[in-house]
Amino acid sequence: MSRKILVTGGAGFIGSNFIHYWVDRYPEDTIINLDKLTYAGNLDNLKALEGNPRYYFVKGDISDSEVVGGLFQKGLNVVVNFAAETHVDRSIGDPDDFIRTDVYGTYVLLEAARHNEVECFIQISTDEVYGSVEDGFSRETDPLMPRNPYAASKAGADRLAYSYFATYDLPVIITRASNNFGPYQYPEKVIPLFVTNALDSIPLPLYGDGLNIRDWLFVDDHCRAVDLLIQRGEKGEVYNIGGGNLLTNQDLTGQILKYLGLPETLVRRVRDREGHDRRYALDSSKIKKLGWTPGADYDNELKSTIDWYRDNRWWWEKIKSGEFKAYYQKQYSNR
Ligand code: NAD
Ligand code: DAU
Repeated sequence: MSRKILVTGGAGFIGSNFIHYWVDRYPEDTIINLDKLTYAGNLDNLKALEGNPRYYFVKGDISDSEVVGGLFQKGLNVVVNFAAETHVDRSIGDPDDFIRTDVYGTYVLLEAARHNEVECFIQISTDEVYGSVEDGFSRETDPLMPRNPYAASKAGADRLAYSYFATYDLPVIITRASNNFGPYQYPEKVIPLFVTNALDSIPLPLYGDGLNIRDWLFVDDHCRAVDLLIQRGEKGEVYNIGGGNLLTNQDLTGQILKYLGLPETLVRRVRDREGHDRRYALDSSKIKKLGWTPGADYDNELKSTIDWYRDNRWWWEKIKSGEFKAYYQKQYSNR
């Protein structure tokens, strides 16, 4: 049976990878991509789908109840809400849009879902909602302790989505994934920033002592996890999705430079991020019990990601000479 899937934020990094994944795997389904095209939204990510009769792009804001209501009235089977403001540093500078989109926008989508039948509403949350985890691994039942405005806005949306399950029996599933990497990631995030800077021999601005730890998840593995949860996830439940590749930023930077054959002298130590979470680490045994496992070959996934940026300058040079230029100047000039 063919399904109608609403993907929000589908012109961003994970959303566009998810749409490619879905079209390849379920060519009979129809995908509607609702995206506001903020600085992070990029239709270049979806060029290969131009002319596909089962893919529709709608430029619009998830906070706009008229646009959202109109889409739900077309009859949707599944909603996957990726749309969000996502960059921690920008949330520290100016949290306003984070509250508007991540919290209020999610509320608008949930309200529309409540008044129209949907079989499954996936709320894409994040491991950042647990806050900094000095040791051990976060479980889905752990308290939420978000420590920056981005993480707090995602925690608000996460619990709001749950409240629509508990109160209205809306078929909600919440995912909390770790740091994704792969093609089409906006170069404000550490891996594409460091790879593209390195390719242009620009210093890599490593925050603080470089010993903060992140758990790296290849974006395709994240897409597979969301697919599995749409099929077999239990409604009202939260699922951690961790790559199981815990690395300090210093080690990650070393791996990038080593693969590119560039010297460590390209690293520039800069002032730390305010309130910088020291470590994220997920216990993913709950989703593993459903049959998901992360990819087993982190080294090759990282290498293939670096290769992708090396081979697709057309994609990131346009971004880096546009909106990103002023952002980079403001963000890094006096660090
Ligand atoms: P991204 O910043 O690359 O893309 C976000 C997309 O949302 C963009 O296309 C943007 O135009 C769109 N958008 C923003 N505001 C909107 C609005 N009001 N209405 C409609 N569209 C809007 O983000 P990403 O890294 O792909 O993250 C996608 C989701 O996954 C987010 O919800 C994020 O919190 C979550 N997440 C990301 C990671 C990660 O490592 N990147 C890890 C865990 C969870
Ligand atoms: O953990 C999931 C989260 O991962 C997602 O929810 C967020 O949307 C996503 O942006 C990401 O957040 P991080 O803050 O972990 O990602 P970022 O790429 O910004 O930074 C990763 C680490 O690298 C972090 O410890 C800060 C450090 N860093 C980052 C930048 C941009 C640097 O050292 N230098 C930099 O220039």
